[in-house]
Amino acid sequence: MRILVIGGGAREHALLYALSRDPQVTALHVAPGNAGMSNLATLHNIDVKDSAGLVALAKTENIDLVVIGPEIPLVAGVADALRDAGFAVFGPSAAAAQIEGSKEFAKDIMKAAGVVTADAVVLRADQDGLDDALEAALDDMGPTWVVKDDGLAGGKGVVVTDERDAAEAHAREVLAAGNPVLFERFLDGPEVSLFCLVDGETVVPLIPAQDHKRVGDGDTGPNTGGMGAYCPLPWLPEDGVDRIVREVCEPVVKEMAARGVPYSGLLYAGLAWGKNGPAVIEFNCRFGDPETQPVLSLLETPLAGVLNAVATGTLAEQPELKWRDGYALTVVLAAENYPASPVVGGEITGAQPGREADGVLHAGTAEKDGKIVSAGGRVLNVIGTGDTLAAARDNAYRVLDTIELAGSHYRTDIALPAVEGKISIPTQ
Ligand code: AMP
Ligand code: GLY
Repeated sequence: MRILVIGGGAREHALLYALSRDPQVTALHVAPGNAGMSNLATLHNIDVKDSAGLVALAKTENIDLVVIGPEIPLVAGVADALRDAGFAVFGPSAAAAQIEGSKEFAKDIMKAAGVVTADAVVLRADQDGLDDALEAALDDMGPTWVVKDDGLAGGKGVVVTDERDAAEAHAREVLAAGNPVLFERFLDGPEVSLFCLVDGETVVPLIPAQDHKRVGDGDTGPNTGGMGAYCPLPWLPEDGVDRIVREVCEPVVKEMAARGVPYSGLLYAGLAWGKNGPAVIEFNCRFGDPETQPVLSLLETPLAGVLNAVATGTLAEQPELKWRDGYALTVVLAAENYPASPVVGGEITGAQPGREADGVLHAGTAEKDGKIVSAGGRVLNVIGTGDTLAAARDNAYRVLDTIELAGSHYRTDIALPAVEGKISIPTQ
């Protein structure tokens, strides 16, 4: 099977590494890729939204399956263009990608499907009586305010705060930029990321993971794209995954099919596990980053066959997925001053291409004069696996110590609350 992966982050590096271990795979291409991928795939410098360029590449390289990583090309309709040209594609249509692209669309689907999620109010800059509506939303939603930019912001347009002034300031900023602002009821409880393979009808869950969204140890500082993740979740009730599939993912997939917007690809449910079980925080229309990196490191079933079954609507015929015992986690190495305005261009040592077996995956990197340099906010990921979460942590941090980038930072507490038994489900 000849495969083209679209994207250039650590998630795509993890996908390529898993695909490279599938004996069915005969060629791997990536657009645009990054400096860490050259041992695994042929890199093509084509933008992820350039539908015409990607269709032409798929034709030239005789591609059998296209795997789309990020949400931006999905929301922009790149999967539609490739399907129209006759290619098998892993990733939803633009219409179905609205489950991530529009929080209002996602809320509407959930309401119709009877899925538990936070109450929300949407405000628009041009609505009548905006100031009164804003005051009313602030009065109603505290004491913890959740204020979201209803544009595609990759988790970065969200402010969760106990300060009313900060909530109001963010809402006004979003409105001033011309976007709708969404106020949501705060959902209490530890977070779960559950990824499901969906082929329009059949839903197959992967193992559950947890992301660490804040930049600093102890969940301090601003939200980021994700600073680390681990899987599976030792604190999740035994029927946790089944409940999420039954109560959340299957009803959504049914509702989308009934509306004539069938979902095919990876459905990412981001949830809070509260006193009554799962409540949806958000959906994403793609594999999560960084959760995908540890999740795929524990998958034993060859990946290409699985993704192809999704793309061709034959998931129900696939054998059950096989997983390695034990745990995995990934720690993100971020550039100086990430997430505000990351410093790029610094030389990285210890991260030459080909260290995937040690768990080293590249995100924002580039090659310059034969050296690997930083080229984005999240620069590298290091994965550790082990029989216990504590062992997986030790393995990841030991490898991370062998890598250097001036000014870079990472969280030292990825999976630590779970190791210490400090994650608890609210009882009231
Ligand atoms: P989102 O972009 O919607 O995923 O939000 C980013 C992060 O903000 C989530 O991963 C949560 O940590 C937090 N968050 C968003 N919405 C809520 C909510 N309603 N209740 C509690 N936390 C939330
Ligand atoms: N892990 C957060 C995201 O992929 O959006």
